This record gives sequence, C-alpha cells and structure tokens, in this order.
Amino acid sequence: MKDYKEIIAKILVDENIGLEYEEIKNTIETPPDKNMGDYAFPCFKLAKIKRNAPNKIAEEIADSIKKNENIEKIISTGPYLNFFVDKTLLAKNIIEEVKSKGEMYGSSDIGKGKNVVVEFSSTNIAKPFHIGHIRSTVIGNAINKIYKFCGYNTTAVNYIGDYGTQFGMMISAYKLWGDDEKINANPIKELLKLYVDYNTLAKEDPEKMDEARRWFSELENENPEAVELWKWFKEVSLSELDRVYNMLGVEFDSYNGEAFSSQFVDDIIKELREKDLLVKSEGAEIIDLEDENLPNMIVIKSDGSSTYITRDIATAIYRKKEYEFEKNIYVVGSQQILHFNQLIVTLKKMGYDWAEECIHVPFGMVSLKDQTLSTRKGQVVFLEDVLNKAVEKTLAIINERNPGLDDKEEVAKKVGIGAVIFQELFSNRIKDYVFDWDNTLNYDGETGPYVQYTIARANSIVNKANLSSDEVDYSLLSGEVEFDLLKTLYDFPQRVLEAMEKYEPSYITRQLIEIASAFNKFYNSCPILNADDKTMNARLALTDATRTVLKTGLALLGIQSPEKM
Ligand code: ARG
Repeated sequence: MKDYKEIIAKILVDENIGLEYEEIKNTIETPPDKNMGDYAFPCFKLAKIKRNAPNKIAEEIADSIKKNENIEKIISTGPYLNFFVDKTLLAKNIIEEVKSKGEMYGSSDIGKGKNVVVEFSSTNIAKPFHIGHIRSTVIGNAINKIYKFCGYNTTAVNYIGDYGTQFGMMISAYKLWGDDEKINANPIKELLKLYVDYNTLAKEDPEKMDEARRWFSELENENPEAVELWKWFKEVSLSELDRVYNMLGVEFDSYNGEAFSSQFVDDIIKELREKDLLVKSEGAEIIDLEDENLPNMIVIKSDGSSTYITRDIATAIYRKKEYEFEKNIYVVGSQQILHFNQLIVTLKKMGYDWAEECIHVPFGMVSLKDQTLSTRKGQVVFLEDVLNKAVEKTLAIINERNPGLDDKEEVAKKVGIGAVIFQELFSNRIKDYVFDWDNTLNYDGETGPYVQYTIARANSIVNKANLSSDEVDYSLLSGEVEFDLLKTLYDFPQRVLEAMEKYEPSYITRQLIEIASAFNKFYNSCPILNADDKTMNARLALTDATRTVLKTGLALLGIQSPEKM
C-alpha cells in the first residue's frame, strides 16, 4: 500500500526545502479539520534555514511545488502546507490491494524470522476459571494473533498454576472428605469446594495447614500417592478448562506450567548461590533487592519448598533456551506488576542481558454490573456460565429480530461469545471495567454484534447484486462519505502495527467501530443496488473491501463473523 506520508516527504525532498527525508516524514501531521486537507506540513522548522517567516515559506513552496499523481492539490494555510490526496487513486489503491491480499490485508513481515513467546490465560488448576481470567485469555489470544499477523513466529503458552501449597491443601482435603464420583462429575466446582472448606478448617486449626504443607513436600519429593492424586486433579481440571477454551476458540502451543518448571528449580538455586545472590533470613533464603528499591523476595521457604517467583526465574531461563525469543510476553493482571519487576531485576542481577526482553503486559480488573451470576458467597463467577448466558441472551435477541434465520444456535454462539470478547478488548487494557450485558449485546452500540451485523449487511448486498462486469470506475467513489470510509480502510494496517507495538488490541477494536460506522453512513446515503450499473459496481467493490477488512479485524481479536445475522 502506498504510504502518503512517504509520498509527501518525497515531494518535499525534491523541492529541496532543506530537511532530510526522515525528518520531513516525521513532521507530517493530520490536520484537525477535513477542509484543511488530509495531511499537513508545518513550516516552522524551515524558518531558520530559509531565514523567512513560516507563512511566506509555505506560500512559496505551494506555488512552486511539482504535482504528483497521488496528490490532487497542495495549498498553504498560514504556516502550513496542506495536501489533499487524489480520491480516485486512493480508492483504486485500497480496493485493489484488499482484493489481492484478501484477509491478509494489513499483515506484514516485520517479525519475519523472530520468535515471540506469548504467555496468557495461566489459570490455576483446581480453582475456578472465573470471569477475571477471561481478560488474560482474551487479551493474550489477540496479542498472539496480532504478532503472527505481523510475521512473528509465536508460541502461545498457558503457564498453568498446577503447583504450590494449595495442592497440599487439596490432597489433605481429599483425604478427609473426597468423593470420587462427585469430583468426576463436576471437577472444578468440587475441587474448589474442597479447597475452600479446607481453608476454613485450617484457619481454625493451624495443625491442618501444617499437614497441607507436608503433603506439598511429599508431592515435591514424588511420593506416589501424592503424585497420583495431583495428576488426577490436574487431568479432570484441564479437560474442563479445554471446554471453555473451545467455546472461546483459543488454542495453546504449550501447557507447560509451574509444575513443569519446578524440575529446574534446584539448578536455579545452585546458580543463585554461585552468583552470591542468596541471603539467609529467618530460616528462609531470599534475594535482597533493596538496592533496586524493591521488596526482598523469598526463593526457598523455611520448610525447604520453592516459591512462585523461583519457578518464574526458572521458566524465563528455560524459555530463552527453548524458544530463543526476541520477546517473552506475560499477559497477567496489574496486581502482579511488582512480581514481574522483581523477576526482571533478578534476571538482570544474574547477568542475563535479555532480561529486558521479558515484558509484562498488565491489565485492569473486571467487575460485574449485574451480579445475578454470583454464587451465594458472592465472589466467584464462572466464565463458562457467562459465555452460556451470552449465547442464550443472543438467541433471544435473534428470535425477536430475525426468527426465520438459519442455524440460529450457531449464529448465537458466534455473536454471543464474540460480544463478550469484543467488550473485553474495547477499552485500554489497563483500565478497570464493568461488565454490563446491555452494552455488550447492543446491536447498535460500539459492540461486537454491531460490527458483525455490518458484515452480514455487506454480505447480503454483495450476494444480492447482479454484477454485469468486474470493471470498476473508481472516480465514482470520490464523494465525501466514500472517501471517509476509504480512509478508515487505509488506516487499518497502521492500527494493526500500533496494536502489536503497544500490546494493545483495543487499537483494532476501535478501528473496526470507525470502519463499521463509516460504512453504515455510506450505506445510508449511497444507494447501492438501485444505482445505475457503473455506480453499483463501484459501490459494490467498496462494500466488498469493507467486509473483508472487518472480518480480518474481528479474526485478529479472536471473533468469528457469521455470514448472516
Ligand atoms: N497462575 C497465576 C495466577 O492466576 C498467573 C501466572 C502468571 N504468569 C507467570 N509467569 N507468573 O495468579
């Protein structure tokens, strides 16, 4: 795709204005008002070089400048040069490019030959997959797809929490109250109950906590009974998790979690000792991070067991060796900012110059406006219940709006689950947000269903049309609404890059809303199927390009688009 900033920078270089190409390119702005053109170049920097007032310089350049086919007109407005792009050529460039690249429009090869690890979801086994976990899963899944789209070779890792004292608690609890039948029938909920009840018990009777710790030690020492129970807890939990991942359309390349990393812990401790980084403190061994203004961290507890951070140190080193990553991205909530700071600082202290390639991508919390999904205790909302409810509510909406639709159930799944994902990815990830059903499912709001509906509308137009020829007269797309829509399509690849660089899928989410609303304006003011043949052809070409880009964008977010809605 032609980059207009590059075209304009080149024109100005040829004009010998006294600045280098790169500097010119970086100075080009987008004017606040459409009447001032599509791009503007402020002439303030030239005042010194040319020893003249910026207004005068702008005027002179506008008079003398050589035209370029891509630029329709260049004028001066005060100290600015304003550039108006050629609308017909823009339409031709974009539509032909989308047509030839299809759903790869906006992709690039910036990441070619580079490896990136994207860790996300990372749920704790035997604790519920609740609405809070959806954030990491959905944001991470989108980041993984966006990196792939930019040419990176990515590895999606689910660093499952399958280790630690809580497993000692589960084993103790199971030995007290365990009921195999119940657990097999409803693993996550039953295991959670064991865990919660045991916690309550241990608060009254500290002896019980000691017993749990003993069982975790047994697990670390590979006591067969402990290992067998742990494996079983893990198996039943994972298969239940998989059901949710399937609903969300999320896949991982690796499920290597904390237990996997624990095998490297002894070596890590040895390394830390050799590098003189361990300090004894009240029976435990810690790393002192005072010089970094960070709290100390416990590496080995007084009972000899390893900790969460020790396993993370081991994990990072393992990943560097295994994947030779350029970036090791952790999509984990903002409560763990301190943890990842400590991790990165420790890796640096150990002498690993790649520590800076470990990137924590934090996000804010989600709370629920409608609390009806809470359990009696009011804390845990199961993600699967939320997704099922989204599908159910969507089906009700479809039955009202379009009861004769084929495959209603399938469409309701794509739309309902897509709506939840879109909502998750709509705001800056770091913001806390309130999940609200009405906003999420509103067909006319800034939502997934709105974008999907726009695609379905475009599909129906393209399918109904009787095209007499493929030839498109692009000059018929130079009106203002068409141009506004074309510009949103033009911006799409740039938004993808920004989303990649900033680990921020919301750049794409928001651009999709821009595109969909520009399309709906176009649709409302430019009749398509009733226009004369030539106009119809041109408008159909634009409609076709729009639906392709919208679909691509949704796919990058992990959302499917139904053919009809
Ligand atoms: N399992 C952890 C939790 O749910 C998140 C793991 C984050 N990733 C990591 N490498 N520490 O809190």
